[in-house]
Amino acid sequence: MARNKIALIGSGMIGGTLAHMIGLKELGDVVLFDIADGIPQGKGLDIAESAPVDGFDAKYVGANSYEAIKGADVCIVTAGVPRKPGMSRDDLLGINLKVMEQVGAGIKKYAPDAFVICITNPLDAMVWALQQFSGLPKNKVCGMAGVLDSARFRHFLAEEFDVSVEDVTGFVLGGHGDTMVPLTRYSTVAGIPLPDLVKMGWTTKEKLDAIVQRTRDGGAEIVGLLKTGSAYYAPASSAIAMAESYLKDKKRVLPCAAHLNGQYGVKNMYVGVPTVIGAGGVERIIEIDLNKTEQKMFDKSVASVAGLCEACANIAPNLK
Ligand code: APR
Repeated sequence: MARNKIALIGSGMIGGTLAHMIGLKELGDVVLFDIADGIPQGKGLDIAESAPVDGFDAKYVGANSYEAIKGADVCIVTAGVPRKPGMSRDDLLGINLKVMEQVGAGIKKYAPDAFVICITNPLDAMVWALQQFSGLPKNKVCGMAGVLDSARFRHFLAEEFDVSVEDVTGFVLGGHGDTMVPLTRYSTVAGIPLPDLVKMGWTTKEKLDAIVQRTRDGGAEIVGLLKTGSAYYAPASSAIAMAESYLKDKKRVLPCAAHLNGQYGVKNMYVGVPTVIGAGGVERIIEIDLNKTEQKMFDKSVASVAGLCEACANIAPNLK
């Protein structure tokens, strides 16, 4: 059986990390695509030369032409510009929307059967535009945000409780921005919900509130430290979890920016919700009951995503 073909559209910091992880996990052959000449070729060759040491088999191709992604099983999109300190994800909208138009056309022509994971920010609006530009089925195009946001939440919680990250689950809903909604009552340590852990004296409500806020600001915290770009290790790991669930039909329950058509009262938008990802792409959207406070936070987050989609439609009127 031939190996899977994974196309990385954008070969910058996240793209290069993805390429390395795909090899280490033997998920398939890799095509690195970028508009920058030499970067995808150089990174591909460098990683291929690490393969004998680490003991994995994967072919690496670097390309500046979309033809190279022909027949890809998975496309992971990071093309565009990242944030600099002081910028919000939304400041990237104008530039990255134009990039999504080119990427969408490339995928439509050469990889119409692929499962597409978008990482480019502002995420929820970019994935919404990319699905339309590519014309691919809505269940085959999704955005990576929730796995990353919940991983950040889990990391901070594991530190607070001094337990393994493996035993902490985190539940984050909504857009990938300052309005994201970490849900404490659905987040647990080995199944024990966070509010119970407060009752048990493991932490305080104030400390939890601070962790929730740090999770919301998690991306900006890294940008502030790096100064020259944004996070790439955790975003790459998160997208790999989604790609792996698709390629191996694992049907993992993962939060992602998925197309909503009435679920959670939202129509024709991509927003972060829990989903099942398997061979059918985004196979299911899991709708949970929200209490009044949670619903209010979710609505606020959806409104901010709606504003970004509107801004996209003002620039590219064919989007609707
Ligand atoms: N087509 C293809 N590649 C492009 C295009 C384009 N039109 N425009 C820019 N690129 C490439 C750049 O040449 C660069 O190599 O996209 C790559 C982006 O890489 P980085 O600048 O290193 O950014 P990265 O940290 O990987 O983040 C990429 O993901 O998390 C988001 O906010 C982040 O939008 C950003 C994206």
